Amino acid sequence: MPLVLRFTLVAAALSLLSYALGVVKLEYSLALAVLSITPLVVFIIKGRLRFPSLRIPVSTSHNGLGSVSFRILEVEVKARRDSVASGIAKVVSDRASRGDIRYVLLSVMEGDLRRSLIILTSRDAGRLSVEAEVLKSLLSSLVEDIRVYDVNIPELAPLASWALEARVHSKGLILVSESTLSSRHPFKGGSNDGSTRIYLGEVLDKPYPKPFALEGRDLEGHIGVFGSTGSGKSTTLSVLAERAWYQARIPVLLLDWTGEHSSLLKARGLSFKEYNPATGEAAINPLDLSKDIDYLVSVMVKALSLSPPQAYMLLRALEQGKPRNLRELEAVVEILSEESKWDREVKRALLRKIGMLTRGSYDAFKETRGVALEGICVIRLDYVRNVLARKSYALFTLAGLFMERASGVEGPKVMIVLDEAHNVFSGEEVAFIEQLFSESRKYGLILAIATQSPSSIPNSVLLNTNTKIVHALRSARDKNVIAETMSLTRDYIDILDKLGPGEAIVQSPSNPEPLLVQIQLVNEPGDELHQPLVQGKPVNPNPGIPDIKSS
Ligand SMILES: Nc1ncnc2c1ncn2[C@@H]1O[C@H](COP(=O)(O)OP(=O)(O)OP(=O)(O)O)[C@@H](O)[C@H]1O
Ligand SMILES: [Mg+2]
Repeated sequence: MPLVLRFTLVAAALSLLSYALGVVKLEYSLALAVLSITPLVVFIIKGRLRFPSLRIPVSTSHNGLGSVSFRILEVEVKARRDSVASGIAKVVSDRASRGDIRYVLLSVMEGDLRRSLIILTSRDAGRLSVEAEVLKSLLSSLVEDIRVYDVNIPELAPLASWALEARVHSKGLILVSESTLSSRHPFKGGSNDGSTRIYLGEVLDKPYPKPFALEGRDLEGHIGVFGSTGSGKSTTLSVLAERAWYQARIPVLLLDWTGEHSSLLKARGLSFKEYNPATGEAAINPLDLSKDIDYLVSVMVKALSLSPPQAYMLLRALEQGKPRNLRELEAVVEILSEESKWDREVKRALLRKIGMLTRGSYDAFKETRGVALEGICVIRLDYVRNVLARKSYALFTLAGLFMERASGVEGPKVMIVLDEAHNVFSGEEVAFIEQLFSESRKYGLILAIATQSPSSIPNSVLLNTNTKIVHALRSARDKNVIAETMSLTRDYIDILDKLGPGEAIVQSPSNPEPLLVQIQLVNEPGDELHQPLVQGKPVNPNPGIPDIKSS
């Protein structure tokens, strides 16, 4: 029995005894008794005496520095919503910032099931028990749709010991995902071969939710994201870009048509490199693209929507004048001989189109300046104001990458992301686009494109997107085109216009049968606990974490 309790009982007994013996009056005796229990009350309030009702499983482990106590709480999330995740995160990080208890948020996969655990660890077992009860009641009362209960996992003792000693940047809170522990690929949900994969979301049309990922072989071909306005295309492309790099280590070149993706990636707290072509960053001189004049003409025809006579005049200028840049090309076209009034018209029209690239956005097309393809590179097309120049820049970039690889320059696999692809690919001239889509994959260039109008891009593009992610489509024409290219059954055709934001029918080489998938904004299946806290950064900011499996 603790000393303070013994002292209290003796003092109270003595005060009552003194009344019984007639030494003091009743009121003095009671006052003495109350005074004598004061230290006990103080002791209890300070939380240093545990009552039987507060006795709960506290595990203790020993490291070289003495004993470490820890409690493990499991959080069962009944309904997945962002508010649940952020509610839990807020309560836990608030408690952790108080200091004396170290918290670990741990997320582990068991088969397809993700378990979210909170480990509390301290050297003071009494303090730990009180804190665990406080946390449980706070979570249960402040966050809806969760259940929090104690679990006993002795295997986590080394992690708890480590957590107490680790230097923590984030106010007593450590985030750990299974990937950090096993130091293998970040996404392993549903996989057993450990190959490269990108988590997309949850399959909805199965009896129970199941994680869905793009597998290695899906990432050998192009990806098409389709859907009407507001259906979730841009979000899906951003998710793909983020995970291509963070989960599959595929560098990403994102051609950002409106600047929206830059904002989306920033909102997710990701680091990426941004280029402004209008100031000459990542500039591309179209006349550097290839020594093959026919190829050059085919790209310029597409970029500048040249008519056949304009294309022919361009060919003459390139052959006769051997210009090295657009300024020189303008000068050469100027002095080409004119055999008729018709020729003069064609020349004016051609010069007007080239002029759109040399004026205003001139720096974007002046001299070729490469981009280091590492991590996520975002090219801000929106800074190129003229829409024709913007489309041209996108096409020249694609042609440049393609030509470089086709000429034998080896490089890593790259994912090229292009939203609003109809702006770039629509139109009559398809030869260059067809070649790009049918041949670039063999050079390791994966195109991930999105468009609201699958019926307005060349059919060859549709056929060459091996992975199709189809969000809600409302136009009958687009629905028909998609239903035909994906051979959708009636059931899927009927729900095409009823899908909610982020819901999509997905078909890929590894999943040839279409599946209904909810694209998830969290980076790993069921990983609600981590998302709001890490904001897209790699989950564990604390290196050197022990491998609990080998301990
Ligand atoms: N996977 C998702 N989960 C939850 N919400 C989503 C998801 N995808 C999109 N949304 C929401 O739907 C809205 C529209 O998304 P988004 O801008 O990606 O659509 P879009 O098809 O690119 O639209 P637009 O054609 O106008 O460019 C956004 O508010 C976004 O937050
Ligand atoms: Mg969009």
